[in-house]
Amino acid sequence: MWHRTLPLALTLPAPRYLVLATIDARFYLPGDPDWLRVGAAAALHLGVGGRSPSNPADPTKSTKIEMSQSKRSKPVTHSIALVPGDGIGVDVIESGVEALKALEAKLGTFGLEFVHYPYSVEHYQQHGCMMPEDGIQKLSQHDAIYFGACGWPSVPDHITLWQLILPIRKQLRQYINLRPVRVLKGSTFPLKCNAQDIDWVFVRENSEGEYSGQGGRTHPGEPFEMGTEVAIFTRPAIQRVMHFAFKTAQSRPKKHLTIVTKSNAQRHGMVLWDEVAMEVAKSYPDVHTDKILVDAMTVAMVNRPQTMDTIVATNLHADILTDLAAALAGSVGIATSANFNPDKSTPGMFEPIHGSAPDIKGQGIANPIGALWAGADMLSHLGEAKASALLMEAIEFCTSNGKVTKDMGGSLSTKEVTEQVVEFIRQS
Ligand SMILES: NC(=O)c1ccc[n+]([C@@H]2O[C@H](COP(=O)([O-])OP(=O)(O)OC[C@H]3O[C@@H](n4cnc5c(N)ncnc54)[C@H](O)[C@@H]3O)[C@@H](O)[C@H]2O)c1
Repeated sequence: MWHRTLPLALTLPAPRYLVLATIDARFYLPGDPDWLRVGAAAALHLGVGGRSPSNPADPTKSTKIEMSQSKRSKPVTHSIALVPGDGIGVDVIESGVEALKALEAKLGTFGLEFVHYPYSVEHYQQHGCMMPEDGIQKLSQHDAIYFGACGWPSVPDHITLWQLILPIRKQLRQYINLRPVRVLKGSTFPLKCNAQDIDWVFVRENSEGEYSGQGGRTHPGEPFEMGTEVAIFTRPAIQRVMHFAFKTAQSRPKKHLTIVTKSNAQRHGMVLWDEVAMEVAKSYPDVHTDKILVDAMTVAMVNRPQTMDTIVATNLHADILTDLAAALAGSVGIATSANFNPDKSTPGMFEPIHGSAPDIKGQGIANPIGALWAGADMLSHLGEAKASALLMEAIEFCTSNGKVTKDMGGSLSTKEVTEQVVEFIRQS
């Protein structure tokens, strides 16, 4: 069981990372400011690329202890599955790949191999499905998945989501969705507070809850037609996400976890959610916790952003709250989203949180920062901490100098922001 394992502390020769190797998971505690810059995904996943040899059917069996980048005898090549998807997903992933290639060329310490998968609405229109039957099996052979966005008005959204992104998350057991949100250097944001007041890490339960897929429709077309959407909450899934959230909170300076709930109105699953959270809290006496209803949370994020740090929420609640968080931090176009299983037995998927944005289709003005930040998270997850930090520096060079797209008050196109990022990497 997750909470019964005893951590074995190792200090690696590269002194910046203290690695806690447990028999079921690895967590990396930050030792320098890079951690804050790159975000919690970096802090928690600075391991060497490739997947753990553990049995995917039993993640508790993983025994792999990660090696620091500096211990490698030769550069590793990471195999990346590219799924740009639809709309601006294509533009921002193109931007991300250019930046990743620039980092590979600049640093020369790792290789990247990209394999493109055309899983999208266009694929659906041609073949009747968003991806082929063996799509997930193909994706699972890579070290990571770099995802754009899926969905287009010509196909109902529940089809696109349930045939592509949700099966990937579920079947690859990516039960954590980590979404750090902060104000990037020099950028403008709508709240009247200090930029550093908005510095949050959302831990989203990514496997069940409101997106469990339980429910159905009966009596279609009848006046008495019925539809149900059943939210599922299980003790093991709540336990594992809570442990991860507490460990994330513990690794950050404030050591503060906010538990988002709706247990006043939803008196079964959400009450279980609260109870398990309180049970797990006993294992983390150094973490201060508070509990807040999701409706009150929206108000708190606006009125007292500095009182939050790490936040754990259900699949639906965190989905909504992180769009709000991104907008409060400057734009939905900047936010990143890392889907993974902490034991790394399956590849993680890294994506911007935004969708395919049909309203700005073909205009070349999509903000690539969310996808670039996701690229930095992916590098970090693969053990390329230096490359990850350099990419974040390049992003913040752009935000500090007004070299941004329209949604952030700038006038640059997606390609022009990308050129700035690539040039910064080359010159650094
Ligand atoms: N992970 C995913 O694949 C994902 C996530 C959200 C929405 N979607 C899908 O995307 C489609 C559109 O959804 P939506 O309109 O609700 O959300 P959206 O995120 O695509 O767009 C919301 C608003 O934000 C703007 N925006 C989003 N990203 C931007 C960027 N990078 N730069 C500048 N502006 C940006 C859009 O122009 C739009 O005005 C739907 O089909 C939806 O299902 C997919």
